[in-house]
Amino acid sequence: LLSYRHAYHAGNFADVLKHIVAVDILEYLCKKQKAFSYIDTHAGAGLYHLRSEHGQKLEEYRNGIAKLTLTDWPELKSYLSIVRQSNSNDELTFYPGSPLIAKHFLRPQDKAWLYELHPSDFTSLSSHTADTHGRMTCFKEDGFKGLLAQLPPLSRRAFVLIDPPYEIKHDYEKVFDTLNKAYQKFSTGCYALWYPVVQRSTIDRLENQFRNSKIRDIQRFELGLSGDSEARGMSASGVIVINPSWGLYNRMSTLLPKLCQTLAGDNGHFRCDILVDE
Ligand SMILES: C[S@@+](CC[C@H](N)C(=O)[O-])C[C@H]1O[C@@H](n2cnc3c(N)ncnc32)[C@H](O)[C@@H]1O
Repeated sequence: LLSYRHAYHAGNFADVLKHIVAVDILEYLCKKQKAFSYIDTHAGAGLYHLRSEHGQKLEEYRNGIAKLTLTDWPELKSYLSIVRQSNSNDELTFYPGSPLIAKHFLRPQDKAWLYELHPSDFTSLSSHTADTHGRMTCFKEDGFKGLLAQLPPLSRRAFVLIDPPYEIKHDYEKVFDTLNKAYQKFSTGCYALWYPVVQRSTIDRLENQFRNSKIRDIQRFELGLSGDSEARGMSASGVIVINPSWGLYNRMSTLLPKLCQTLAGDNGHFRCDILVDE
């Protein structure tokens, strides 16, 4: 299958939400000297050229990262600085994917495992992480299986990002099953699961699976450009976080209304919920 190419979507409103949450968690993990592991089950290409044939086709980044400036968003300083550092000047030409965002936070004691199945994205990912002296290892393997093989990590502290393309409907079940198994192996890890809202009923089902599970301390952050609709395509996207960084909920509660107004105007919506208590 593998027809999904993230280059078309890099830097869009969904990436912005996902990467803001990822930066918050990584920053939190860096507060302690003790090593942590980063596992990215669907890592993508690492870096995206926004003005390439792919990036330029849909120009989704224009209604995403391109709308956020450091002057207006001091609270997003870390995230925006990483994007800035991926560009050689003030112009927005490149957008860093989750592995390069994580790379920014990795200290000598930390390690990362990145999974990517698409051959050309894998090549790009490998080249963008080659200078990490073995701290980041890339696998051209299935990330769902890879994750379960890595847990529990030796470090006993980890951030796991699960960001599949949901090309096959089965992925909605697979994400829950995998997270449930991962949690049984390693219940103290921090997990972030990205999801698109294409059909609301699918997300309601996913949400209920989490609510009815044995997993504790689950929060959800969602941002939509328009209301739910039966029209084709993604109207919103969200991130479900297990064992979130301390204070994430409060920071997101302040951030999401402002982000929603900037990226979606009056048609937008956001959700900020505690799905399961600590
Ligand atoms: C949404 S993109 C990842 C974006 C990346 N996490 C980021 O935030 O920059 C999903 C990626 O998963 C890859 N992929 C699809 N199925 C996979 C699987 N079973 N295991 C690993 N990678 C997979 C796709 O080729 C695609 O590059």
